Amino acid sequence: MANKSVIRQVGEHVGETVVIGSWLNNKRSSGKIQFLQLRDGTGYIQGVVVKSEVGEEVWEKAKSLTQESSMYVTGVIREEPRSQSGYEMTVTDIEIIHLTENYPITPKEHGVDFLMDHRHLWLRSPKQRAVMVIRAEIIRAIQEFFNTNGFTKMDPPILTPTSAEGTTNLFHTKYFDEDAYLTQSGQLYMEAAAMALGKVYSFGPTFRAEKSKTRRHLIEFWMIEPEMAFTDHEESLIVQENFVTHVVQSVLKNCRLELETLDRDISKLENIKAPFPRISYDDAIEYLHTQGFDIPWGEDFGAPHETAIAERYDKPVFITNYPAGIKAFYMKPDPNRPEVVLCADMIAPEGYGEIIGGSQRIDDPELMEERFKEHNLSPETYQWYMDLRRYGSVPHSGFGLGLERTVAWVCGLEHVRETIPFPRMLYRLYP
Ligand code: 4AD
Ligand code: MG
Repeated sequence: MANKSVIRQVGEHVGETVVIGSWLNNKRSSGKIQFLQLRDGTGYIQGVVVKSEVGEEVWEKAKSLTQESSMYVTGVIREEPRSQSGYEMTVTDIEIIHLTENYPITPKEHGVDFLMDHRHLWLRSPKQRAVMVIRAEIIRAIQEFFNTNGFTKMDPPILTPTSAEGTTNLFHTKYFDEDAYLTQSGQLYMEAAAMALGKVYSFGPTFRAEKSKTRRHLIEFWMIEPEMAFTDHEESLIVQENFVTHVVQSVLKNCRLELETLDRDISKLENIKAPFPRISYDDAIEYLHTQGFDIPWGEDFGAPHETAIAERYDKPVFITNYPAGIKAFYMKPDPNRPEVVLCADMIAPEGYGEIIGGSQRIDDPELMEERFKEHNLSPETYQWYMDLRRYGSVPHSGFGLGLERTVAWVCGLEHVRETIPFPRMLYRLYP
């Protein structure tokens, strides 16, 4: 048997005979030649079967292949500038592994519910594969950024006794005889981690039982949460814009074919370079008023507000210094104006909404106690968190980037449901 290869690496085998384990994506025929569109997960290649060269048996096997049939294909790799991958295979042999019958996802259009019910198969289609490759590249670039900038990766727990981001969307479960919740955010634990290791980041699943059915919300999503000791809000913003720049530029560099498969307008991404514009919540409210929105100071922005603000820029924009009343209990008030907090949301361009939420944290123990009372949080469950303020408290800041919203933006997708292999959404736990 000839050497095995994968489609991504056929360029190393030009002129050689190789075997590729693959599935049939599609097939065309023109009399004496069949064109097999093969996929193996790493890429796509056209296999050319010429009747006069392969003989009757191989020809008939090729003819019997149906969409998503699996096989080992043997053939010679040739350069082919007209194909997307740059190569083609002249098929010499086919060993069928499994002939598929009635594959449910055909090249015709399907409704989203149908595709979601068949998510386990839908993942095989070229666009879905491209999204998953870009998601993996984004994760790689994220870890590269933090690992090369002095951060240590730390893993906060998934099962927690307390809430980090408000009590309305907690996912409840029993922990033997106690009550527990799936984590909404690792932040509080990452603050402890920062006091131990300086600059840290986490990357893991987070859960919010949000009853909102929007194109930006998942019940289970992945978050990157860096936390930095001896770092103020301003310094954190600089880390954030450099971080997002690195992620977007890495995808541009390493995922050209996938962006093409998704028809992504690359010029929009090429533009994403630090520094990013900033606008205060106050100025944002004023701007919204000029645009006919009648939102009072003190109210949180919804998707239409965020989109209206983001439309003014061709880069992500930081909205800074929100009113304390609409933000989390741990955010540090602006010393010059305690009614607003030292925080920022990063809003992606093109209407993709908030991708980062971040802030400087309260480091004063008395103020923190007060906040627990105001937010009706039981101080006992947060004793360990108070200890971070009791023993060697320092100014510190951090932020959380939502992976799926970032993938949706970079890929140019309508909805976050396609950004994660098996989305957990309101009314969807299958497959
Ligand atoms: O703004 P959020 O709620 O901030 C936090 O959780 C902070 N504790 C982070 C920190 O400072 N360490 O969430 C952060 C990001 C949002 O900007 C958004 O991108 C994403 O997480 N996100 C969601 N993504 C998908 N589905 C949901 N239901 C999401 N909720 C938040
Ligand atoms: Mg937020």
